[in-house]
Amino acid sequence: MDLDENICLCFHVTLRKVKKFIRLEKPIRASQISQCYGAGTGCGWCRPYLEKLLAESNSAEGPTTNLEDLSPDAYAELRKSYVDQGHGAPPKG
Ligand code: FES
Repeated sequence: MDLDENICLCFHVTLRKVKKFIRLEKPIRASQISQCYGAGTGCGWCRPYLEKLLAESNSAEGPTTNLEDLSPDAYAELRKSYVDQGHGAPPKG
Protein backbone atom coordinates (compact mmCIF):
# COMPACT_ATOMS: atom_id res chain seq x y z
CA MET A 1 0.00 0.00 0.00
CA ASP A 2 1.26 3.46 -0.72
CA LEU A 3 0.70 6.59 1.32
CA ASP A 4 -2.44 7.61 -0.54
CA GLU A 5 -4.28 4.37 0.14
CA ASN A 6 -6.84 4.18 2.92
CA ILE A 7 -5.59 2.49 6.05
CA CYS A 8 -8.95 3.06 7.76
CA LEU A 9 -11.47 1.79 5.26
CA CYS A 10 -14.42 2.71 7.46
CA PHE A 11 -13.63 6.41 7.40
CA HIS A 12 -11.44 6.64 4.30
CA VAL A 13 -8.36 7.82 6.16
CA THR A 14 -5.15 7.46 4.20
CA LEU A 15 -1.86 6.17 5.47
CA ARG A 16 -0.40 9.60 4.68
CA LYS A 17 -2.95 11.36 6.92
CA VAL A 18 -2.28 9.01 9.82
CA LYS A 19 1.49 9.33 9.51
CA LYS A 20 1.21 13.12 9.34
CA PHE A 21 -1.11 13.15 12.36
CA ILE A 22 1.36 11.04 14.35
CA ARG A 23 4.28 13.25 13.32
CA LEU A 24 2.56 16.54 14.16
CA GLU A 25 0.28 15.67 17.07
CA LYS A 26 2.56 13.13 18.74
CA PRO A 27 -0.22 11.03 20.28
CA ILE A 28 0.72 9.04 23.38
CA ARG A 29 -1.85 6.31 22.82
CA ALA A 30 -3.00 4.75 19.57
CA SER A 31 -6.59 5.50 20.54
CA GLN A 32 -5.78 9.20 20.13
CA ILE A 33 -5.35 8.60 16.41
CA SER A 34 -9.14 8.55 16.31
CA GLN A 35 -8.82 12.34 16.26
CA CYS A 36 -7.50 11.91 12.73
CA TYR A 37 -10.81 11.80 10.86
CA GLY A 38 -12.15 9.02 13.09
CA ALA A 39 -9.49 6.47 12.15
CA GLY A 40 -9.99 3.24 14.03
CA THR A 41 -13.45 4.02 15.38
CA GLY A 42 -15.44 1.84 13.02
CA CYS A 43 -15.04 -1.91 12.67
CA GLY A 44 -11.69 -1.92 14.46
CA TRP A 45 -9.79 -3.71 11.71
CA CYS A 46 -7.17 -1.02 11.31
CA ARG A 47 -6.46 -0.52 15.03
CA PRO A 48 -3.53 -2.97 15.19
CA TYR A 49 -2.00 -1.17 12.22
CA LEU A 50 -2.51 2.22 13.88
CA GLU A 51 -0.83 0.88 17.02
CA LYS A 52 2.11 -0.40 15.00
CA LEU A 53 2.43 2.88 13.12
CA LEU A 54 2.57 4.74 16.42
CA ALA A 55 5.14 2.30 17.83
CA GLU A 56 7.12 2.57 14.62
CA SER A 57 7.21 6.36 14.95
CA ASN A 58 8.72 6.03 18.42
CA SER A 59 11.33 3.52 17.36
CA ALA A 60 14.65 3.84 15.60
CA GLU A 61 13.98 0.52 13.95
CA GLY A 62 12.36 0.12 10.59
CA PRO A 63 8.69 -0.46 9.76
CA THR A 64 6.82 -2.90 11.95
CA THR A 65 3.77 -3.23 9.75
CA ASN A 66 3.52 -5.31 6.61
CA LEU A 67 1.58 -2.58 4.85
CA GLU A 68 4.26 -2.13 2.21
CA ASP A 69 3.79 -5.76 1.23
CA LEU A 70 0.00 -5.58 0.97
CA SER A 71 -1.85 -4.38 -2.08
CA PRO A 72 -4.90 -2.21 -1.37
CA ASP A 73 -7.09 -5.06 -2.64
CA ALA A 74 -5.40 -7.60 -0.34
CA TYR A 75 -5.77 -5.23 2.61
CA ALA A 76 -9.47 -4.70 1.81
CA GLU A 77 -9.98 -8.45 1.46
CA LEU A 78 -8.41 -9.11 4.86
CA ARG A 79 -10.66 -6.47 6.38
CA LYS A 80 -13.71 -7.98 4.66
CA SER A 81 -12.88 -11.38 6.20
CA TYR A 82 -12.51 -9.72 9.60
CA VAL A 83 -15.92 -8.07 9.29
CA ASP A 84 -17.55 -11.20 7.80
CA GLN A 85 -16.31 -13.21 10.80
CA GLY A 86 -18.22 -10.84 13.06
CA HIS A 87 -15.25 -9.11 14.66
CA GLY A 88 -16.56 -5.64 13.96
CA ALA A 89 -19.10 -3.75 11.94
CA PRO A 90 -18.38 -0.87 9.60
CA PRO A 91 -20.35 2.30 10.23
CA LYS A 92 -23.71 2.47 8.49
CA GLY A 93 -24.44 5.10 5.94
S1 FES B 1 -11.04 0.01 8.88
FE1 FES B 1 -10.59 1.46 10.44
S2 FES B 1 -12.18 1.18 11.85
FE2 FES B 1 -12.76 -0.10 10.21
